[in-house]
Formats: sequence, structure tokens, C-alpha cells
Amino acid sequence: MQLVIPELAYIPQVEALSRPGGYRGLYAFHKYWGKKPSEPIRYLIEHLCPEGGLVVDPFMGSGIAAIEALQVGRRVVGIDINPAAIRITKLLVSPPTSEAVSEAFRRIKSAAKAAIESSYAIGEGGTASHFLWVEGRMIKVWQTNGSGHARVETEPTPADLELLERFDGYTPRMLRQPRFFNNARINASDALTLHDLFTGRALRNIELLLAAIEELPEEMREALRLSLTAAVGQMSKMVFAITGRGKTTGAGSDRIEVGSWVIGFWRPAKHFEVNVWNCFERRVKKLIKALSGATSKPEAPILGDIQEVNASVADCALINGNTLDRLPELQDGSVDLFITDPPHSDRIPYLELSELWNMILGETPDYASEIIVSNAKERSKGAKEYTAAMTKFLEIATTKLNAQGSLVLFFNARSESSWKFFENFRTTADSVGMNYNGCFPLVYSAGSVVQDNRKGALKTDYGLVFSRAATVGQRLRNIPGWMSDIPVRG
Ligand SMILES: C[S@@+](CC[C@H](N)C(=O)[O-])C[C@H]1O[C@@H](n2cnc3c(N)ncnc32)[C@H](O)[C@@H]1O
Repeated sequence: MQLVIPELAYIPQVEALSRPGGYRGLYAFHKYWGKKPSEPIRYLIEHLCPEGGLVVDPFMGSGIAAIEALQVGRRVVGIDINPAAIRITKLLVSPPTSEAVSEAFRRIKSAAKAAIESSYAIGEGGTASHFLWVEGRMIKVWQTNGSGHARVETEPTPADLELLERFDGYTPRMLRQPRFFNNARINASDALTLHDLFTGRALRNIELLLAAIEELPEEMREALRLSLTAAVGQMSKMVFAITGRGKTTGAGSDRIEVGSWVIGFWRPAKHFEVNVWNCFERRVKKLIKALSGATSKPEAPILGDIQEVNASVADCALINGNTLDRLPELQDGSVDLFITDPPHSDRIPYLELSELWNMILGETPDYASEIIVSNAKERSKGAKEYTAAMTKFLEIATTKLNAQGSLVLFFNARSESSWKFFENFRTTADSVGMNYNGCFPLVYSAGSVVQDNRKGALKTDYGLVFSRAATVGQRLRNIPGWMSDIPVRG
């Protein structure tokens, strides 16, 4: 049985590419880094791959291309080096029912909620929802009502401080040690410990959740484990306290709001400690809501390995590995469409940023094979290695495309070096017999990304279209902003 998720069951008209709907429902479940809008992906799949044909995303991330392709009856191979990306995608291509997740949640609630909440007990039978910390000291305790609007703020009592201290030295028993590199750009260092990022109380509560999840039957665990990864940033000391953003006019406001975990490992001097149970509950409820209203379709996609997709025995292979090692397994000339958002040089260090998620999942990523320009010197990942790897990718991909096949690459150039990558890519494409057809600007829903406006950067992200046959551009010329030239620079 396959679930048909209402918000995915649409056929985008070309106009939808200029006003994408933003991440809703299942796509909003996990904040995987660098997500692309689904509308252009669906449109390109429908226009560049025949029904039953093969779509490959070799740098798949959270799986939008895989999910979209399966929804419209194409076969899929998705590869990613990040274990978290593959596990999120596997959950989303074959999601559990909302009833199954609700039942799993009910069991976790009865196993862990009371113990977790006892660590936030305040006053006469109350439970704190947030604690405001300034420079390593807890200075305020909040209690919010269910809807999160009205709140009662108090100074911490000796009892509140004593309760906090009880968990100070908590040593994690289930979580593996995280691995961080010295990367000033994301404020990480190899000396960073879990206690720098979480209070002892939060670590203890995260492990209570993990222990309760482990007690569930195997088929119920994954949705809850992934919900925990999706909520972990909000459980950390990296939640900014935002001031001066109130509704008052004139003099501004000193009202404090709860911010969120921003990209990186910043530990703001003024931050919140949020009740771990509340963070987890909110995330699971979001998943349950996204799944409710789904109807079922008789055939679920059959998941298998690359050979089984080659032989059309499986609909989909989702592979955790290095694309350069795994792509060769595809049959030569078998692919209709490569559609991918590759790593953009030094823009987002995916594995370094996903370390907390992978730690919760018990995964150990293959850092050495990541294609990236990293600011962490000890990783020895510079522009030269990056360009060499991407060129190799293009060479392998070309041999796998059939005579009508296309390759769509989502591209952004923040700097001269990533621009050079495009120029090299185009030259390599020429030399391996691929035509550059043109490009179109990628439109995001309002506010979902901050565009780069530095000199020499691109005005937006672009979808670049290469193909074996020269005629593909004709099929795409209705896309808003389509141009047969190269992308426009700022
Ligand atoms: C720009 S992201 C893709 C995000 C995706 N568009 C989405 O919607 O979630 C690039 C991806 O390339 C992956 N990656 C980096 N090096 C890789 C390699 N050698 N093999 C496979 N995947 C790799 C990263 O883990 C990351 O998920």
C-alpha cells in the first residue's frame, strides 16, 4: 500500500514555478539543509523523463526529487553520503500511517513523559516550558499555557537551581561522541563537547526519549527517531533569545522571544533551554498532521538496490554512499534524467552540520568521501579536489544517460570559485558530448531563503539543463525566465 499525500498529489502548471507553495506537510517535517522547491522538480521530471523511465538524483539530500518522481510513476535511484538524508527519504517515500505514528507516540508518552517533565517541575505541580540563560546562568523560568501565548515568568527559586544541578554531570550512555572539526565558519571546534551544546538535563531527557523509542517494535521506531533528530536543535543551548521585536511602537520593546537554532554551532550568550518533551511532541504532532488525510493507493513503491532498479524489479533504490563509487553500478545508457542539487563548493558543510542528527541515529558518516569545499583545514577539502570530483561525476553520469537523456543541475555561485566550477563543468560537458541547453531562475517561496547579493554572485539559484540530444530546450521554453544563455550575474 502506498500513501497518497494530498499536498503532493498535484500536477504543477508551468505558472506554479514562479509562485512555489513553500514546504508544507511532509516536506516541512525535517529541515534538511539546502532544500529545493518541489514545483520545478516535478515539472522537469514530467517533461524530461517518460512514464516508467529512470530518474537519478546522485546528491539527493532529503529526497524531494525521489518523492516527486515516484508520485508520477517514474523509477528512481537516489544516492547521498549523508546517512540522515537517506533515512529521512526512506521514511517519506513509504510513510507510516498517521494512526501508526499516533500509537507509537502514545507509547512513548506513557513511558517517558512523566520522567522528563519531573526534571522541569516548578512550584505547586507546575512544569516549566522554557528557561532563559544569560552567560551561563539561568535567570528566568517560564511557564506557558498549552497554546504557548500567555506565559508566566519567574526568577529561578533555590529549588529550580537545585533541580537543574542534579543533572549537571549527566554522562550520556546511548549517544555516541559527536565528531566536530575546527571550522570557524560554523563555529565548530574539535574540542566541542555535548555539554557545550546541551544542558545535562536536556541530554538526560533526550536519552530517556531514545530509550523509550528503542522499546517500540522495530517498524514503529524510525518515524520517532527522525522526529527526535528534527527537534534536537531546539533542545540545545543554541536557541537564540530574541529581543526588541515586539509589537510596541516608538521606543521598541524589551520583550524576549524564543528564536531557533541557526545554521552552525553558535552558542549565544543569551539563549533558551526549552522543555525537551514539548520540542519532541510538537515535531511528532507535525508529522501526524502531515500524514492525516492521506489516502492509500494499492501499490507501494518497491525499494531495492541499484541492480534491481536496473532490472526493473524494484521502483526505487535509496543508497547511502559516495556517488562516485555507486553511480558506476547503473547500467550504461539506462538513465532518462539526472536531476540534482549538488554540493555548492563551500556553501553548506552538510555532514558537519548534520553531526547531531547522525549521532542520534547512531550513524557514523563517511567524512572522507564528502564532496565539499570545507573551511575545516584538517579535512583537506579545497576547490581543486572539489572540481576534480564534480568533473568525475559528470564523466560517469554521461555514460549512464540514454540518447534522449538530460542532466539538470541546480546551481548557485556565491563567489568567483564556484562560478569557475560552472565554466569547467560546461567545458567538461562539451568534451563528453553533452549540450548545454539553457537555464531558468529557481524561485523559492517568500522568505524561505536569503539570496546572496554580493558583487559577482548570481541573482538567484538556477536550474541548468544539459542533454545528449540538442533539442531539449524546446520542451522547456515555457518555464518563466527560461534562457538559452548562461545565468545572469549580479
Ligand atoms: C545541496 S544538497 C542536496 C539537497 C537537496 N536538494 C534537498 O532538497 O534536500 C547536496 C547533497 O550532496 C550530498 N553529498 C556530498 N558529497 C557526496 C558524495 N560524495 N556522494 C553522495 N552525496 C554527496 C550531501 O550530503 C548533500 O545532501
